[in-house]
Amino acid sequence: MASLHLEAEIGEIAETVLMPGDPLRAKHVAETLLTDAVCYNRVRGMFGFTGYYEGKRVSIQGSGMGMGSAGIYVNELITTYQVKKIIRVGTCGAIQRDLDLGRVVIAMSASGDSDANSHHFKGMHYAATADFDLLYAAVEAAKKLGIPTVQGPIFSTNTFYDTESNRWDVWERHGILGVEMESQILFTLAKRFNVKALSILTVSDNILTGAASGQKEREQSYNDMMRIALEIA
Ligand code: HPA
Repeated sequence: MASLHLEAEIGEIAETVLMPGDPLRAKHVAETLLTDAVCYNRVRGMFGFTGYYEGKRVSIQGSGMGMGSAGIYVNELITTYQVKKIIRVGTCGAIQRDLDLGRVVIAMSASGDSDANSHHFKGMHYAATADFDLLYAAVEAAKKLGIPTVQGPIFSTNTFYDTESNRWDVWERHGILGVEMESQILFTLAKRFNVKALSILTVSDNILTGAASGQKEREQSYNDMMRIALEIA
């Protein structure tokens, strides 16, 4: 049996899934960091692989961009494949001036502008939060690995391009570290279905200053983030 958007057989997906936005990143990570990796999904090019990291069985599944896409995969992973732990690994644009490019951000909560969330909560505002045990484990793992991190709230948007110049002012003033496009729906669905979720992100750019990291810095910080995620998988 498969779900609507995933062709894996039941049992082919591990209980723990790392979830990058980019399916080609999923493929790259599976090929370089996992052993005995097997591809279980090619539908829509949204690659998913299951393999082993230091003896631990782990899957890595692309989510696509935005909460519409990510919500579909998160839903199906949990409800069809009984996944118990989902760790998003991705990038964010900083909206704090002093947040360094390449810094690893461990998200405590995700505010956002998703219609899916406002519909579901009848216009009220659900505070989508990460799983505390995973968050704690990630902070401890980062310390052990000597990787500096920042913990705090982030914002998930469904609109990457926007013409409003002061769009982030109020969020900056309320301590939001950075903006990405998937975590709010991930955290909400994980709580709905009683599984664990976390997002670990690297700062790829600063929306306020326009600074953007180069390819080499990006690779380095992506590797740091992956080491933390695999350590707690
Ligand atoms: N907006 C939304 N998502 C992002 C950004 C951004 O500026 N940078 C990295 N992910």
